Amino acid sequence: MDFQLTEEHLMIQKAARDFAINELLPGVIERDEHQKFPAEQVKKLGELGFLGMMVSPKYGGAGLDAISYVLAMEEISKIDASASVVMSVNNSLVCWGLETFGTEEQKQKYLVPLATGQIIGAFMLSEPEAGSDATSQRTTAEDRGDHYLLNGTKNWITNGNSASVYLVMAQTHPEKGSKGINTLIVEKNMPGVTIGAKENKLGIRGSDTHSVMFQDVKVPKENRIGEDGFGFKFAMKTLAGGRIGIASQALGIASGAYELALKYSRERKAFGKEISQHQAIQFKLADMATRIEASRLLCLKAAWEKDHHLDYTLSSSMAKVFSSETAMWVTTEAVQVHGGYGYVKEYHVERLMRDAKITQIYEGTSEVQRIVISRSILA
Ligand code: CAA
Repeated sequence: MDFQLTEEHLMIQKAARDFAINELLPGVIERDEHQKFPAEQVKKLGELGFLGMMVSPKYGGAGLDAISYVLAMEEISKIDASASVVMSVNNSLVCWGLETFGTEEQKQKYLVPLATGQIIGAFMLSEPEAGSDATSQRTTAEDRGDHYLLNGTKNWITNGNSASVYLVMAQTHPEKGSKGINTLIVEKNMPGVTIGAKENKLGIRGSDTHSVMFQDVKVPKENRIGEDGFGFKFAMKTLAGGRIGIASQALGIASGAYELALKYSRERKAFGKEISQHQAIQFKLADMATRIEASRLLCLKAAWEKDHHLDYTLSSSMAKVFSSETAMWVTTEAVQVHGGYGYVKEYHVERLMRDAKITQIYEGTSEVQRIVISRSILA
C-alpha cells in the first residue's frame, strides 16, 4: 500500500491551490452575498484543464487520474465551493458519462467543447417529485421515429442557466419503470427549452441553480446516450463517480474551515494565552484533523478504485456520506472556535458552514448513500 503522492499529483495539487488563492479568494465573499456566478474564474478553470481533468487528451481533456481530481477538488473547495460544484458537475456528471457511453459523433460534437471548457454542461435528473426516488421520472421523451419529443420540468439544476449542453433523463416507456428511461443530450438553444428562476440558496450561492422546463422539444434520436432504456443505469453509474467529486468538495470545505480555525486559534488570546493553548480548543482541533484525514482516505480510496477499473459504487457512497457529515461538523466547530468573529462574513467560516450543508443533499442525500451502502453490504 502506497500513501505517497507522485510528483505529478503534488504539482496538480499546488496548481489548484494557487488558482484558488489567486483567482477565487478575491471576491468570494461578494459573489456569495450577491449570488454572482464566477463566470470569469470558471473560464480560467477551463483554460487550465480543470473542467475536463479525466477526459482523454484525444477529446481535449487533461488525461489525469481520479486521484488528481480529488486533490484539485479539495483545494478549490477550500476557498470556493460555488466554483468547485461547477467543476464537479462538468467533470464527473457530464464529461465522464459522455466519454464512457457516448458515440464518437457525440464526443466530437459535445465532449470536446465541454472538456476544453469552451462550454459547460448540466445533469438533469431531479424533478419536483423525483429527488431521492429518481425512478419516478415524470418528464417524458416520446419516441417519434427520428426524434424524441421532450416534455417536463427539471429542478435544482446546477449550471441551470450557464450550461449550454444538458444530459436529461426522461421516461420513454412508463410501463417499464427504471428500464424505460432514456438520457438525451439537449442543447440550451433548442426550441422549447425555458430556464426558470434562479434559486435563492442558503449556501453555494455563487453557483447557478435553476429549474429548466421542456415543452415539445424535438431531440434528434442520435442524441440518445446508449441503448433504448439505458438512461437510469447511465444516471446511477455516472452518479457513483459524481459522489467522489462531492465527497472531495465536502473534504475541501472541511479542511478549509479547519485551516482557518487552526490559524485563528494561534492568533486569538483569551485568559492570558493563545486559545490554541486551551485544551477545549486543542481537542476540537484534534477531532477536526482526525475526521478530515479519514474523509481524505475514503475519497482517495474511491478514486484509486476508479483508476483501477474496480467497482467504486460502495466506496464513493461511503466517502460522500462520511465527508459531508464531517464537513457539517467541522465547519460548525470552526465557527465555534472563532466565537463571535465566526458568525460574520469576513472570517469565511460562516460561508463554509452554509456551503457544507448542500453536500449532504445533492448527488444523493445522506439517506440515499446509506441505502446504497446497506444494499451493498447486505447483498
Ligand atoms: N450502477 C449500475 N446500475 C445501477 C446502480 C449503479 N450504481 N444503481 C442502481 N442500478 C440499477 C439497478 O441494478 C436496477 O437495475 P435492474 O432492475 O436491472 O436490477 C435499476 O438501476 C434500478 O435500481 P433500484 O431498484 O436500486 O432503484 P431504486 O428506485 O430503488 O433507487 C436509489 C435506488 C439508490 C435510491 C436511486 O434512486 C438514487 O441514487 N437516488 C438518488 C438520486 C440522486 O443522486 N440524485 C442527484 C441528482 S444530480 C445532482 O444533484 C447534480 C447536481 O446538481 C450537483
